[in-house]
Amino acid sequence: MLEQDALEAVATLNATVDARDPYTAGHSQRVQEIALSVARELGIEGRELDAIGHAGLFHDIGKLGVPDAILTKPAKLTEQEYELMKQHPADGAKIVAKFGRLRDAVPLIHHHHERWDGQGYPHGLAADSIPLGAAIVGLADAWDAMTTDRPYHRALDPGEAEAELRRHRGTQFAPVVVDAFFRVFERPGATDRDPVRTTQPLRVVTRTA
Ligand SMILES: [Fe+2]
Repeated sequence: MLEQDALEAVATLNATVDARDPYTAGHSQRVQEIALSVARELGIEGRELDAIGHAGLFHDIGKLGVPDAILTKPAKLTEQEYELMKQHPADGAKIVAKFGRLRDAVPLIHHHHERWDGQGYPHGLAADSIPLGAAIVGLADAWDAMTTDRPYHRALDPGEAEAELRRHRGTQFAPVVVDAFFRVFERPGATDRDPVRTTQPLRVVTRTA
């Protein structure tokens, strides 16, 4: 009971992050859905799948600590602003670590901005030292960011976004994750070539066990 209440409290907190920026409305849920589709495609299930669902939904909860002026800035961030923005994965991990039920999502949130080539943040982890779930959430996040309008860029059409993913396969993104994404994306029945629609609508992933 208490655990469920706590989870709902995090979900509410998280919704305030999405709501602060009208451009990102629904972003967390879309990232969760895409991440779960890709994870299932990779045969991930059970607790690990739940962790990826939670991390997808709460990946940017650390942006609570980022001022509005930076979050919604319609231009490139200054170096100083970018440094502040870069604290959100660690801040988010700290918030989520307080909830026992979300324990497995903590490293995934912490590392969702790492890159396959080691040029990401916060720790510059590379290749297989990045938790797979974090790489999955990172790709889902990038896909949604590319395909929706943002204060600083217009949405790419699916073809352009697809080309971006392929171009950054093995530099920004884990090859195995890109390949799984395209298997889901190109599957017959993926309405409008949109991987999000191949999954059932998802709320907070809860398990009683
Ligand atoms: Fe993020």
